[in-house]
Amino acid sequence: MTAVLNTVRSLSQHYQPQVEALSEKFEAASPLEVLAWASQAFGQELVLACSFGPEDVVLIDMLSRIQPKAQAFFLDTDFHFPETLALKARIQERYPSLQLETVSPLLTPDQQAAQYQPELYKSNPDLCCGIRKVEPLNRTLARYQAWITGMRREQAPTRAAIGKVQWDAKRNLIKINPLADWTHQQIWDYIVAEQVPYNPLHDQNYPSIGCIHCTAAVAAGEDPRSGRWQGKGKTECGLHT
Ligand code: ADX
Repeated sequence: MTAVLNTVRSLSQHYQPQVEALSEKFEAASPLEVLAWASQAFGQELVLACSFGPEDVVLIDMLSRIQPKAQAFFLDTDFHFPETLALKARIQERYPSLQLETVSPLLTPDQQAAQYQPELYKSNPDLCCGIRKVEPLNRTLARYQAWITGMRREQAPTRAAIGKVQWDAKRNLIKINPLADWTHQQIWDYIVAEQVPYNPLHDQNYPSIGCIHCTAAVAAGEDPRSGRWQGKGKTECGLHT
């Protein structure tokens, strides 16, 4: 048993020294090619982090062509928009073989309010994200060797240099960003061409959607992520920092 566990655990470490070379090699590759490699290299040790944003639904559609039983997880903060939860149900219907896990925080919103304070997202959004997103993410990734995200370089200056294959030093596993070099236009062309279900809030000036309390609509021409944690001096929740 120990030997088996060691073998399995060594998978991400096996690829760790190769991440830069792999990233370079995949720079000219399509997202489908990156996903095909990831699926072949990591099998059931691979998982997609899915918030049901436009990038994530594109990745689900692509992954389902390679491995219909692909694994994904959704961090349900208890503060998602009803539209996001409705989209989750539509995606499950469209991709019935997708192994989608919903992960909850250790505290319910009421427990969090009692233990810390009501509306913690207002007074201490970092702590709120830590409890409702980052801890559940770390807990989930402890069971895998590689994770896929929908991050793109265009999304934010903090993301401008991401590779297609990276080492996640915080969590000790491989991080794969197949859409790193895709543009907003490419994402939406794919969604339209393949008729992939998407969040209707995107048609109502919500280009980037997180929790209901920390997501606002943006004006035309504004930075798409400017509606996230508006006025809170924060641009990342900690999943990717
Ligand atoms: S965030 O860190 O600001 O919330 P963003 O919304 O840009 O991230 O999403 C980037 C990627 O992080 C998504 O494509 C997805 O892979 C992952 N992600 C973000 N939020 C969640 C969530 N609630 N559940 C699972 N994965 C998520």
